[in-house]
Amino acid sequence: MIIYNAEYTASAVNQSQYPKHTEPEIALAGRSNVGKSSLINKFINRKNLARTGNTPGKTQMLNFYHINDAFYFVDLPGYGYAKVSKEVHNKWGKMMQEYFSTRENLRAVIQIVDIRHKPSLEDQEMQGFLRNRGIPVLVVATKSDKIARGQWPKYLKAIAETLELPDWHYILPYSAENGAGVEELHQAVEEILDEVASEE
Ligand code: GTP
Ligand code: MG
Repeated sequence: MIIYNAEYTASAVNQSQYPKHTEPEIALAGRSNVGKSSLINKFINRKNLARTGNTPGKTQMLNFYHINDAFYFVDLPGYGYAKVSKEVHNKWGKMMQEYFSTRENLRAVIQIVDIRHKPSLEDQEMQGFLRNRGIPVLVVATKSDKIARGQWPKYLKAIAETLELPDWHYILPYSAENGAGVEELHQAVEEILDEVASEE
């Protein structure tokens, strides 16, 4: 996939603020600070279109990025940031609930986990939630640059087991740091879009 255009189009906290269009959306879900925004930037080969940072909870709204005039990435606010107040936590839940239950354009979710860590309870809940809803989900294990390539299978197997995936080969190792897995993710996204097109 060649990325010839990528632009930020909107931020939303509720349905009325979602951009109006009929193109497919692929949402990115994962723990706060796991690297969702960085994954987008690497994917589109831009330094800082999606805002990233060391402060967890940087992305507090749903951010929509229009790619190649063909589809959207939706950068979802990260979960599992312990320091947020109860109020923020509830707001987060409502935002996610509303998006997942109302957004007809949603075609797939890229669930991002850290290759080094066993997925958290929230990661497991997210995986279960998406599976129950029948939303196609692709698991990406990012920050793979932090681990020697020879060790990847060991870590990917642990992730697959925790998320109850049938096979660790379904997990895509990725790095926003050195670009590992970017080509594979381009291809996976292309396949999702082809699938959507063939249904229409
Ligand atoms: P929230 O918006 O808070 O939910 O975080 P996020 O998931 O969007 O994470 P973000 O992309 O802002 O990255 C968090 C931190 O991890 C930043 O300091 C990034 O530089 C770093 N980071 C992200 N991806 C990678 C990666 O593949 N490798 C390494 N080494 N660091 C990464
Ligand atoms: Mg972010």
